[in-house]
Amino acid sequence: MDGGEQRGAAASPDLGQPVLEVRGVSKRYGSVHALRDINFEIHRDEVVGLVGDNGAGKSTLVNILSGALHPTSGQILVDGAPVSFKSATDARDVGIETVYQDLALAPDLSIWANLFLGRERTVSGPLGWLGWLDRRAMMARSVEDLDRTKIHIASVSSRVGRLSGGQRQAVAVGRAVAWGSRVLLLDEPTAALGVEQQAKVGDLIRTVSGHGIPVLLISHNLPQVYELCDRVVVLFHGRVIAELRPKETDLDSIVSWITGSAMLAGKTTR
Ligand SMILES: Nc1ncnc2c1ncn2[C@@H]1O[C@H](COP(=O)(O)OP(=O)(O)OP(=O)(O)O)[C@@H](O)[C@H]1O
Ligand SMILES: [Mg+2]
Repeated sequence: MDGGEQRGAAASPDLGQPVLEVRGVSKRYGSVHALRDINFEIHRDEVVGLVGDNGAGKSTLVNILSGALHPTSGQILVDGAPVSFKSATDARDVGIETVYQDLALAPDLSIWANLFLGRERTVSGPLGWLGWLDRRAMMARSVEDLDRTKIHIASVSSRVGRLSGGQRQAVAVGRAVAWGSRVLLLDEPTAALGVEQQAKVGDLIRTVSGHGIPVLLISHNLPQVYELCDRVVVLFHGRVIAELRPKETDLDSIVSWITGSAMLAGKTTR
């Protein structure tokens, strides 16, 4: 499969410096070669789809970008500067927000507490030095942030455990937007959602993108990927084998790259 990687039609016009760049990233789990020499870029205002069959390496790549895993080799650059993450907190600190399939929300905490999870605000002065939390400020800011993302939830004091899947998704995405992230990674955000809720996640992605935050969307929901994404990166057995623009191709072609039949047929994306 060497040399199977195809680029061309999807090559970005001159969009300036990428917000996120993956250079030659590989990942091995023992003898399993989960990712091989991955290269791609995400630019401002882009929604990029990352697709591939089960086991293609999508989550591994997201986990590397979000600081949860270390690449075996290769480099990640944020706004042109090389970064190296020891943890998910390091990645968040440079503005890479990730919404995982399980959402990583705390069901027993309120919406506002989830929005500030790990970044709690303390009151100013001596009480703050003792760790006294500024609940009022955090609640007020939560209302503003959710408003900005057009997410309508009755009260930011509601426990997340009482929200529907779609509402939880909205809070998770809202958290990413609220923190002024540089880039948002979504790993299977609609997998557990109903049709209507899936459409709402689509609206959220457009909202995030409208705020100038690029989005990397991983999903098996190909019609949604086709509809939402400016560019689609296809992984096959741990390699990028195609980059396609939905505007220039049809859904069936994307599927044929995912299954590998396009590559076997000797197609190129040029
Ligand atoms: N912790 C691990 N140890 C060993 N192998 C792993 C581990 N995690 C993933 N893999 C392997 O790495 C490859 C890529 O897995 P990954 O989870 O990244 O796929 P994926 O594209 O996200 O698949 P899916 O669509 O099913 O979520 C698979 O072959 C998988 O078995
Ligand atoms: Mg996965």
